[in-house]
Amino acid sequence: MLDLLKLSSPVIAAPMCGISDYPFRQLNRELGIGLTYTEMISSVGISRGNKKSLSFTFVKGEHPVVVQLFGDNPFLLAEAAQLFENEGADAIDVNFGCSVKKVIKQGAGSALQRNLSLSKDVLCAVRKAIQIPLFIKCRLGWSRPEENYLELAKIAESEGVNALCLHPRYATQLFTGESNWEHFYALREACTIPLIGSGDIKTSQQITQALHQYPVDAVMLGRGLVGNPWLLTDFLGAAQPSSIEILRHHADLLLDYYPEQKACALLRKYVAKYTKGHPKALALRLFGNTLSCAKDINLLLDMMHV
Ligand SMILES: Cc1cc2nc3c(=O)[nH]c(=O)nc-3n(C[C@H](O)[C@H](O)[C@H](O)COP(=O)(O)O)c2cc1C
Repeated sequence: MLDLLKLSSPVIAAPMCGISDYPFRQLNRELGIGLTYTEMISSVGISRGNKKSLSFTFVKGEHPVVVQLFGDNPFLLAEAAQLFENEGADAIDVNFGCSVKKVIKQGAGSALQRNLSLSKDVLCAVRKAIQIPLFIKCRLGWSRPEENYLELAKIAESEGVNALCLHPRYATQLFTGESNWEHFYALREACTIPLIGSGDIKTSQQITQALHQYPVDAVMLGRGLVGNPWLLTDFLGAAQPSSIEILRHHADLLLDYYPEQKACALLRKYVAKYTKGHPKALALRLFGNTLSCAKDINLLLDMMHV
């Protein structure tokens, strides 16, 4: 287990841009997730005092939360890590796995993993800057010929990284194909730090199987958890909240955190998923796509009572 953070359960909510905001993290924490990550935050943005970067951050007092940073400049990453440590983050994660163009172009994410010497400098600088645990999240490498996750893991261990999350695909694959968890066996041989497995977990049986079959200390839930909090409650053997309860609570968390219109726009992404299988699913989805104020949300919830 990831003893250093005393996780209540070996399941972690993935960092996901556009998804893992405070309301999403809070909802999952209340349902029993062991650990949450922020969306990735630009260290360059932080150095410029960019409000958008800061507004992605955690709310003071929320725990447990890992703040994920991206960038390629050791100094800026170290500075940003220090700032979030002072703000109360439980751990810092450096992103080595993002393969979207905007991030790669900056030499960050998967592009950083391609440059092991710079990766080492980054980890050395961030480690020196903070006392709290330091994590990394990476892929297998840029492409099969450029596979380097084992080298990166050894560097991470020697630089004092406390946990490593692997999404076992190549950067060039983006999200195509299947993640190959067999790589965790070699990773376990290469280093002794706690390992987190990420990729294609969609059922509670798959969580249990991954924890038993592979040498991972925790399993990270990404797309499978979006709109499906029952994945978590099912695995934990906890009470299963109804879709009305989940929708009401997620809506309240969004409305508390964002301006009304933005909260409604964000909730639209979840309506179809939360109401899947409901006898009025089609009507609910169509109405869900038009949510624009808190009253609409109440109407939607009224429609759900059959
Ligand atoms: C919409 C979306 C946004 C993501 N954003 C991030 C991110 O900010 N940082 C990161 O390390 N990974 C990010 N990922 C990758 C996920 O954390 C995860 O590793 C990947 O989706 C594989 O897991 P899954 O199959 O359970 O989704 C993102 C994935 C998705 C689908």
